[in-house]
Amino acid sequence: MQHVLEQQAGAADEPVGAAARRRTFAVISHPDAGKSTLTEALALHARAITKAGHVHGKAGRNATVSDWMEMEQARGISISSAVLQLTYRDTVLNLVDTPGHADFSEDTYRVLTAVDAAIMLVDASKGLEVQTMKLFAVCKHRGIPIITVINKWDRPGKDPLELMDEIAERTGLTPTPLSWPVGIAGDFRGVVERDSGEYVAFTPTAGGAQIAPEERMSPGAAAAREGDAWTVAREESQLLAASGAEHDQEMFLGGISTPVLFAAAVRNFGVRRLLDALVELAPAPSPRTDRQGEARPLDAPFSAFVFKLQAGMDTAHRDRLAYIRICSGVFERGMVVTTARTGRPFATKYAQQAFGRDRSLVEVAYPGDVVGLVNASNLRIGDTLHAGPPVQFPALPTFAPEHFAVARGVDTGRYKQFRRGITQLEAEGVVQVLRSDLRGEQAPVLAAVGPMQFEVAEGRMRAEFGAPIHLEPLGYGVARRTTPAWAPTLSAEWGVEVVLREDGELLALLPDQWRVRSIQRNHPDVVLEPLVAT
Ligand code: G4P
Repeated sequence: MQHVLEQQAGAADEPVGAAARRRTFAVISHPDAGKSTLTEALALHARAITKAGHVHGKAGRNATVSDWMEMEQARGISISSAVLQLTYRDTVLNLVDTPGHADFSEDTYRVLTAVDAAIMLVDASKGLEVQTMKLFAVCKHRGIPIITVINKWDRPGKDPLELMDEIAERTGLTPTPLSWPVGIAGDFRGVVERDSGEYVAFTPTAGGAQIAPEERMSPGAAAAREGDAWTVAREESQLLAASGAEHDQEMFLGGISTPVLFAAAVRNFGVRRLLDALVELAPAPSPRTDRQGEARPLDAPFSAFVFKLQAGMDTAHRDRLAYIRICSGVFERGMVVTTARTGRPFATKYAQQAFGRDRSLVEVAYPGDVVGLVNASNLRIGDTLHAGPPVQFPALPTFAPEHFAVARGVDTGRYKQFRRGITQLEAEGVVQVLRSDLRGEQAPVLAAVGPMQFEVAEGRMRAEFGAPIHLEPLGYGVARRTTPAWAPTLSAEWGVEVVLREDGELLALLPDQWRVRSIQRNHPDVVLEPLVAT
């Protein structure tokens, strides 16, 4: 697997050209929409350079490579975000996984800080679902352009125009279909390419294991072959044109519109079209803005930031893997870089591109690429690494937690270890730690986006810090930002607690949205701001 790309391109490339040939993206979807299936289909159509970590999160799937924690093995899920690198039409595609299902966590959101675009994968029969909307909200907040894929068109589902309305209403984006299905959901015959008017007919292959042959034909030939289904598709497509649903690159990049494609990932339908859209429409890595508001040019010396830490791969060695997204310059394995926060050197001798059992050392990487650094115990979430002139990228956002539990040390004699462990987990972003005078330092509230984060915290407190904890779940489901002036009023309300987060945010914890609304009714001026991301 030794760098096919490098062999293609000769010696180390210059970073601007290499960045232009990269697309770094994630798939946002609800469990079962077909993310794993689509990922496999993308890998089938493109040439997989590196099969990393692997993308699957399901029990019984043999591709799950990382098995560093007992819990992960027991459940067959992958705690870590992994990266799959593919090449297609001379472009390197970095697909960064967004863990879902039971492993949905703050890391899932953080992945979105490391990508330049997202594919919103929608099940044709279900439309936009909860987890998709949560991830969409983060993309929208961060201004990440979104390509929408309506999947499972080979199965009965919603009407395509209804789906477009649903996207428009729920996301506020204007859907601009690039292709339009011929045949209703469940009778997928092919698509009209809306720019050329051509018909692309699909031929199913046995089990979808092969690349599905695509037959291109003129509108006349399509009409003769598909009859009414073709006429309906053409009419609907014209209706869309009349309502202005045409792709506009600037509107797409500006987060105003979303190109839409129809697919059946399990049959490999529409997958090549998606790869083409990624190459032609998705943005290449661009200069990242630092804390001073200055953009670090792509050809500045190496810089990157840590968007994920994975701990405990080898508990005996307190191993840590830090996933970095490269922002500028060329990464060469073995280079010694500086951790901006501490000013200390970091040796990148053990940089990996593939994770889990299939590790392979990465020799060189470019802006947009994601690399795993071993021995990263001194790195934290959001840390900047750089060569050359110093740079520090903004801290990573924290996200709205939805699960809350009080942590108490099982053994009160190990309070020092307890405190050290909690502080470390907080610094690494494993869980958010919320404190209040009422609860005291010995019983902080841990907050998480997904319950899996609690399990990781519990496991690490026991195995790594020698301070097992007991977690007592709290009945809150919502955190809202408030101000010190409102703290006494809110604290006096039934079912509400006010706590302080490490970043200085004062948060009101409430059972649910109804309670938020009833308090807003009673106190119209109350400050209870939603936390999408800070
Ligand atoms: P996820 O990663 O988003 O959770 O979804 P995954 O790919 O595992 O797909 C969920 C189920 O949907 C799978 O079926 C998969 O085969 C099916 N699926 C995915 N894409 C399509 C599609 O385009 N058309 C149809 N008809 N089905 C699709 P399963 O029965 O849960 O698992 P399996 O036994 O098929 O693997």
